[in-house]
Amino acid sequence: MPGLTAVDALAGVVGLGLLYVALKEKPRAPLPPGPKGLPVVGNVADMPSSEEWLTFSQWGEKWGGIVSVKLLGQPLIIVNSADVMSELDKKGALHSDRPRLVMAGELVGYAKTLVIMPYGAKFRNFRRYFSKLIGSNAAMKQFLPVEEGEAHKMLRRLLAKPDNLEPILRKTAGGLILMITYGITVREDEDPFVTLIEGANANFSTATAPGSFLVDVLPALKLVPEWVPGAGFKRKAREWYAAMMDMVERPYGYTKEQMSQGTAPVSFVSSLLDEEDKMTPEQIDDIKYTASSLYGAGADTTVSAMYAFFLAMTLFPEVQRKAQAEIDAVVGSDRLPSFADRENLPYTYAVLTEVLRWNSVAPTGVPHRAMEDDIIDGYLVPKGSIIIANLWQMLHDPQVYPEPFKFDPSRHIATPEKPAQRDPRHACFGFGRRICPGMHMAESSVWIVIATALAVFDISKAVVDGVEITPVHENTTGTISFPKPFKCTIKPRSEKAVALINESDEHRD
Ligand code: HEM
Repeated sequence: MPGLTAVDALAGVVGLGLLYVALKEKPRAPLPPGPKGLPVVGNVADMPSSEEWLTFSQWGEKWGGIVSVKLLGQPLIIVNSADVMSELDKKGALHSDRPRLVMAGELVGYAKTLVIMPYGAKFRNFRRYFSKLIGSNAAMKQFLPVEEGEAHKMLRRLLAKPDNLEPILRKTAGGLILMITYGITVREDEDPFVTLIEGANANFSTATAPGSFLVDVLPALKLVPEWVPGAGFKRKAREWYAAMMDMVERPYGYTKEQMSQGTAPVSFVSSLLDEEDKMTPEQIDDIKYTASSLYGAGADTTVSAMYAFFLAMTLFPEVQRKAQAEIDAVVGSDRLPSFADRENLPYTYAVLTEVLRWNSVAPTGVPHRAMEDDIIDGYLVPKGSIIIANLWQMLHDPQVYPEPFKFDPSRHIATPEKPAQRDPRHACFGFGRRICPGMHMAESSVWIVIATALAVFDISKAVVDGVEITPVHENTTGTISFPKPFKCTIKPRSEKAVALINESDEHRD
């Protein structure tokens, strides 16, 4: 090029370099507002130790839909507004990593299961399996008879032991998941698979409890050999790894055995192994670990929603009567409701929707991690931030759900006078590429329990020494939150209802 000197060329290169640096610079925006912390430790002392969703909501009232704090230099972003969450949602993968958990994820090995697996190719593969088998109402169709059968078993157990509600719901949810995942029928007494899996899940909870293991704060400690004094966490990790492997291998081995005998029912594992001869060992391993992710994420969550339904019916008898009237009119009293009735029972479906809103199963979701710097709602979300969605707040926002603590299914039904309130499904199942992959299974399992229980039982306040007990709706603290234990009375609605429950034995399972 005529007239271009070496100095010009150099200036050009420098200019391009500066432009590159400018483009690479962090987006210019402030961190979201939040409580002022101390030097070095930041907001450690501000963090709530229980019912954290309530403190986060108070911060939201003061600082808005997106709040930030720092814990020992680690930014934590708390999202209180559904609109801000949908902005994150639209960024897809960008905010869909999980925080690094050295003890639970790397040393024990739970990062090979879906809930805390880092975002990446393997993650996408696991999600594909979920999506193929239980990721839509159409895919779930093949499992609906199993759900009906388990609901019928629940009715029989409740008829026999009406005071045993919580353990019966655990059996129902566990039975459902083991049948759908592996084709395993759980035993009425202590079931060995349930014991095995619940043991491994308890280890998972202990291993992921915030602040339990120093190695999560100082990852280099993971290199310390087991025999060094103070390295007891390494021994624990080895034992928990063995329990996790049992959970992964043994139920899977059972399905394989059934398949080789030609007796395996349709299940998550048997369907995915249909073309086993064409699969690589890695693909088979992926199926094992995907399957083992179902129980951990699906059992307790379903129990919480089912238990909340019984609590709501105890506290709001007029809702119960209205749903029963709908079921009586549409289904009659000669048979139990089935999935074929779902579309014709809009109020009963709204009871399910309101259960999902009123009782937040995962009040603060599962933490995400930002993979890049980003601007959300005008604020900087730095790469590596941990993002917590306060789903409880979104489901109890009085601007969206007037009288949020009232259990009112009719808020989900549009009338000529007023539209339905926002569908709570936008908030109860999380966001981005991490949105709950079991939501269709959760909804159908809880719906069939609701519909069949309402058809044959009256649920009311317990009477102790002649005094009626009114339970209080309070939730336990934890990633998965349950209504605190309560008492209620469960009685069959009529002799005909008793006969229906007993006959259900002959039709299913
Ligand atoms: C009422 C019942 C349920 C509720 C309210 C619920 C809610 C949630 C929420 C809030 C998350 C976190 C999403 C996020 O990170 O943004 C989640 C994740 C997950 N859920 Fe559910 N869930 C329920 C039932 C189930 C069931 C029945 C299954 C499977 C059988 C299941 C499997 C999972 C899995 C595997 C994850 C982790 C997904 C990932 O990390 O990519 N859930 N669920």
